Amino acid sequence: MKILAILYHGHKAAEEEPRLLGTVENKLGLEDWLKSQGHELIVSASKEGPDSDFQKHIVDAEILITTPFHPGYLTRSIMEKAKNLKLCVTAGVGSDHIDLNAAVDHGIQVLEVSGSNVVSVAEHVVMSILLLVRNFVPAHEMIERGDWQVSDIARDAYDLEGKVVGTIGAGRIGYRVLQRLVPFNTKELLYYDYAPLPASAAEAVKARRVEDLKDFVSQCDVITVNCPLHEGTRGLVNAELLKHCKKGAWIVNTARGAICDKDAIAAALKSGQISGYSGDVWNVQPAPKDHVWRTMKNPLGAGNGMVPHYSGTTLDAQARYAAGVRSILENYLSGKPQDSANIIVGLGKYETKAYGQR
Ligand code: NAI
Repeated sequence: MKILAILYHGHKAAEEEPRLLGTVENKLGLEDWLKSQGHELIVSASKEGPDSDFQKHIVDAEILITTPFHPGYLTRSIMEKAKNLKLCVTAGVGSDHIDLNAAVDHGIQVLEVSGSNVVSVAEHVVMSILLLVRNFVPAHEMIERGDWQVSDIARDAYDLEGKVVGTIGAGRIGYRVLQRLVPFNTKELLYYDYAPLPASAAEAVKARRVEDLKDFVSQCDVITVNCPLHEGTRGLVNAELLKHCKKGAWIVNTARGAICDKDAIAAALKSGQISGYSGDVWNVQPAPKDHVWRTMKNPLGAGNGMVPHYSGTTLDAQARYAAGVRSILENYLSGKPQDSANIIVGLGKYETKAYGQR
């Protein structure tokens, strides 16, 4: 059986650090095991265009392994060429780089390692909220420059205590963010999600659901985005919605770049309508060198906490999602049932309610 994995290059770091499992070099730790079973494993980072390894090998692969950190975009037209493809496995969480509606139509199953990096991301969200609210990035840059002007930083630094924080999406990550914020004594924790939290879970973190998105953003000092990217969330945070935000709100998006409109975010930050934007996800990955989110700033020259896509790929997370990929493959190869929590698209239908209301 041919198995194709599109992963990112780890280069020197991956040679020195074998726990960087999600790299081309370390192959999710699958190589010896799959070879010993007589399977062919092709691993590459080359993913763009008709001459890429991705498009070359997808035509006869039975299993495709991809990662959200270096997404191999499996479009409907590429899927149509993939005559043997039966299973897509996402090493991590978030399978929007695969055309899921096309997978339903083609009877291709899509599984991800649910829960494998949700703590990793929730921790990053809390860090990102704090670094924006407390104006951390320009403070550190000032120190590296050799300067010292406390007032330039303090004029835009606040406490998180007493602020209203809301999450768009209160699933595994969104809920863990709420849990981690409880000790900060925020004024209120809010959530917006078409799936209400169980009453006991909402009560445990004292979170209030707001059902209208404009109403929700108008109440938040901090908005954190934690829903999957699908047709109902692409461009959800756009120029129109940003008008309804509290002036000077902070936005953290570790979900998917394309949920927030690139140019609308940059314009809102530039004008001061929002004070900060932080996250690790981009509308195209790797982000082009001139991507406006790399350098955008608020009127005080601050408010940018962007980093490359790594919140869910800590070494701890890589161990969990590599083990999860292996267990999905073991089930597939031995005909055992999959863990239902991992199935995004089953045979001919969505098995999750998280990728949009249907
Ligand atoms: P989950 O499936 O547990 O929760 C997603 C929640 O979003 C569900 O409660 C769902 O009802 C809600 N939702 C869906 N559409 C919505 C909409 N239109 N409005 C409001 N809520 C909506 O997923 P989990 O594990 O919390 O992950 C969420 C997303 O985070 C992933 O799909 C992925 O895109 C992203 N992620 C990012 C990582 C990173 O490294 N930056 C790593 C892991 C996940």
